[in-house]
Amino acid sequence: SKKPVRVAVTGAAGQIGYALLFRIASGEMLGKDQPVILQLLEIPDEKAQNALKGVIMELEDCAFPLLAGIEAHSDPMQAFKDTDYALLVGSRPRGPGMERAELLAINGAIFTTQGKALNAVASRNVKVLVVGNPANTNAYIAMKAAPDLPAKNFTAMLRLDHNRAASQLAAKTGKAVADIEKLAVWGNHSPTMYADYRFATIAGQSVKDMINDETWNRETFLPTVGKRGAAIIAARGLSSAASAANAAIDHMRDWALGTNGKWVTMGIPSNGEYGIPKEVMFGFPVTCANGEYKIVEGLEIDAFSQECINKTLAELQGEQDGVKHLL
Ligand code: NAI
Repeated sequence: SKKPVRVAVTGAAGQIGYALLFRIASGEMLGKDQPVILQLLEIPDEKAQNALKGVIMELEDCAFPLLAGIEAHSDPMQAFKDTDYALLVGSRPRGPGMERAELLAINGAIFTTQGKALNAVASRNVKVLVVGNPANTNAYIAMKAAPDLPAKNFTAMLRLDHNRAASQLAAKTGKAVADIEKLAVWGNHSPTMYADYRFATIAGQSVKDMINDETWNRETFLPTVGKRGAAIIAARGLSSAASAANAAIDHMRDWALGTNGKWVTMGIPSNGEYGIPKEVMFGFPVTCANGEYKIVEGLEIDAFSQECINKTLAELQGEQDGVKHLL
């Protein structure tokens, strides 16, 4: 049987953590033949550490055959030791009345510390997924704080936006969500992201031709996907957690195990593709194979798409400029 791999999860006692850990431990992320050791990080606060103890008791009580060990930590230098996968979920999202500068300063501190810890103690091949918002900028901060690790190993989660877009398209066309191929979401994980179905197909047929309604694209589809997070908060009184955890599983599974040619969306550091400046942590369509992602290149960007991409890029560059002094 395979040697266990180490999976670090931060914010492990939070709501996404609660929807995520059990699926990792059951083998849904890395395969039903891959044992895992969970290295869980929470803030030192007594309430958070106690909540983490409760989650660990429940993990034990599942008697997962693939769960080869569980550790609870309050120090990232211990939580990230030799870790092969790191899911950075814990962060400080923007609260009511919180100034942008305050938000960026708090997350700048968290993700600088965590990036440095990954740099110091993680596996040299660690695959990092940042879920905690602002996800792209937090991933950028962690990447910049970890100069000894390959920049390409730092990614941000756009998969929830991708899955939301796929689901809306399936509903609109009356087709199965699993049959949708070649969907892309460009840019920031924020309402400015650009969900782009111009290339999408269902059973080889063009989704754009099937829908044939540009007003629906601009006035219904894009705002629905862009504001879905807010709609869930309004309905549930809490932010999306199970769907976010599901997207994190999808992102890591596809990165580690491959997509068989299928396009998925990942937030990754640009190498200048599509005119996105180097190092900007941007949502791109990718395919994955052999543990590596590859940007889908050569797609035509029309005027409307370019306008959307420019807008989300400007927002991201504004965020990244806002943290420069913290790096
Ligand atoms: P939550 O508040 O329920 O849990 C967050 C947990 O992180 C808390 O238990 C907290 O103690 C912990 N935490 C905070 N700072 C930490 C640190 N420095 N180290 C370790 N743990 C720390 O929040 P929830 O619902 O689980 O969401 C987590 C994050 O994910 C939020 O920032 C949220 O905005 C973001 N999110 C991102 C999505 C995406 O698509 N990228 C989708 C949904 C949520």
